[in-house]
Amino acid sequence: MEYSINTTADYHQQDIKTLGWELTVCNALESPDSPCRKILQYNDSYGHLLYRFMERFIPMARIRNIIEVGGGYGYVMRDFLRNKPDSKITMLDISPVLLHKQRDLLKDDVADYILQDFLNADITWLRQYDLAIFNENLGDFPTVLNISCDMFRDGSNDLPDVLSKIKSYFILYQLKKPDTPYFNFNIGAIEALEKLCFAGITYIFFSEHSCEASAPMILNPYLQIVPTGNPERIILQGHDEYTLKFSYLADVAKYHGYDVTRGPMSDFIEPDFSDRVMTILKSNFTAKDEYEVVRQFIYDLYKYEYLILTKK
Ligand SMILES: C[S@@+](CC[C@H](N)C(=O)[O-])C[C@H]1O[C@@H](n2cnc3c(N)ncnc32)[C@H](O)[C@@H]1O
Repeated sequence: MEYSINTTADYHQQDIKTLGWELTVCNALESPDSPCRKILQYNDSYGHLLYRFMERFIPMARIRNIIEVGGGYGYVMRDFLRNKPDSKITMLDISPVLLHKQRDLLKDDVADYILQDFLNADITWLRQYDLAIFNENLGDFPTVLNISCDMFRDGSNDLPDVLSKIKSYFILYQLKKPDTPYFNFNIGAIEALEKLCFAGITYIFFSEHSCEASAPMILNPYLQIVPTGNPERIILQGHDEYTLKFSYLADVAKYHGYDVTRGPMSDFIEPDFSDRVMTILKSNFTAKDEYEVVRQFIYDLYKYEYLILTKK
């Protein structure tokens, strides 16, 4: 089978009208009336929960320059600004429509709005930032699909550029080779991370669907989360995205001298497993739309992982 490359650049540059039904965890928590908020230990919006969690690892008081890439509707930075009004924030997005929505919400509170594919961002320019945030978006970055493990054989030197680049990542970062004959590779996420590392940005936050996630034992009967270890296709309106292999990103970050904190999103969006929530999880009929929404939300809290990277 021939390899191919999944990219969402055209979709985001030309077609996207709204994130609407692509319900990110951030958007699911936006409305104070959201049923997802009601099942949390701390009922709050995504950006506030994230900010408070990041304070445990990052001296937020000392942070000044922040770049958020792919900020969607801008809710995360709105919440950060409420916590830290003196921040100098740049929003960079590939989508003119979404960048416009960010500007509508954040107005002059944000220093700069940049319409650009992050993969074209200049490393020297990135050096000014103390903190970079990529929330629920690296699965949109290019992923190479159906790569044959034959490329690891000695003598297979005559590879197309993209495969040779992937092979060089395996060698340089000592990535563990897949144990399947074919695999998918999140090349865009690795390139984005390399750019941040080369720029020497001190703090980096990533969150995305993971292909290595699993549910805690107690929730196993209710949440089917199988860690396949191979980036999985997620079919969405007008485009596909792929889950991330976080262990490779962690390896790259460590190579570049970063400390790595990694975990499920439920570390900072903590469900309260009350009797009501357990009833919702156990009921496998969709009597109420609300049950379905809550079940999907709890699934996401364990299917998503985050990385906080801190330059030593
Ligand atoms: C699924 S949305 C997530 C939005 C928001 N961060 C949230 O959590 O709700 C993905 C975002 O990443 C942006 N994006 C996708 N690929 C990008 C790229 N190569 N460079 C910059 N932004 C990108 C999209 O335009 C969109 O704003």
